Amino acid sequence: MSAVTTITDEILALKRQRNAVILAHHYVDSEIQEIADVIGDSLELARKAREFDGEVIAFCGVWFMAETAKILNPTRTVVVPDRDAGCSLVDACSADQTRAFKRRYPDHVVVSYINTSAEVKAESDLICTSRNAVKVVQSIPADQPVLFLPDRNLGDWVQRQSGRTNMKIWQGACIVHATFPARRLMHLKHEHPNALVAAHPECPREVLDQAAFIGSTSAIIEWAVTAPRDEIIIMTESGVRHSLDKLAPHKKFIFVPNENCNCSECPYMKRNSLEKLRDCLDKLETRVELPADLMERALKPIERMLAIK
Ligand code: 13P
Ligand code: SF4
Repeated sequence: MSAVTTITDEILALKRQRNAVILAHHYVDSEIQEIADVIGDSLELARKAREFDGEVIAFCGVWFMAETAKILNPTRTVVVPDRDAGCSLVDACSADQTRAFKRRYPDHVVVSYINTSAEVKAESDLICTSRNAVKVVQSIPADQPVLFLPDRNLGDWVQRQSGRTNMKIWQGACIVHATFPARRLMHLKHEHPNALVAAHPECPREVLDQAAFIGSTSAIIEWAVTAPRDEIIIMTESGVRHSLDKLAPHKKFIFVPNENCNCSECPYMKRNSLEKLRDCLDKLETRVELPADLMERALKPIERMLAIK
């Protein structure tokens, strides 16, 4: 490579050489989103992971998303820029805990948020994402008891939306969304009386109750660019600003710092960088490697979810 070759050129050359596709979640840095083939929420990325012809998927997001891509593409190579890009929700619920629950309540249908490990998915009946969680739970017969795991705020919202009373909810939380303070949002609404609020369902109930729209990251972007106001308060990770500013440059998008980092950033998503993306395409490391039987078991509840339109 010549001295003037940029890192973006290096990544694009490696991508061609490897016959790779770059998938990126909305929360990774703008410079990565800029060169990604697909940017999406976790449901869109799971669907897209299956729809291309290449040999390698470079997944810029967090580990559970890359695992999902591998489960959907067992014969392809899936690599990530940083193995330590985890998720507090995944850490909140182990496969042993899920099995212990199933032994105690064998009659419950287990609905797991996609933010879980492959091992927990393999113990689940259905997977959902923030985009389809209400639909997935509504697809289960009303008299059937449900365990929803691991996000307490998403579970609470799904329960309220579906009116379901026979639902146990795990008490995990997202370190980013669960710490958005409702009182800061209230102050901001006073400062910007014309602003509308859009929130991710991982936020606490007191935040969601102030929102005009609740949805996944992509759904928030779609709604915010067409909403009939020029000021929108966005209660999710600030990486979505990349698409929002591109799609609606005339609008003002306001983000609220949380109590954890006094920012609106996911520290796991921010572990991805252009340098690490280049290196993972170059060395084809770190690869997602999972036992074949685990992938087979985890695939079933994912496919049940993908079949729900
Ligand atoms: P989405 O499904 O909305 O992309 O959310 C994933 C996530 O990790 C939110 O914190
Ligand atoms: Fe996990 Fe929260 Fe980060 Fe999403 S924002 S990946 S739920 S820690």
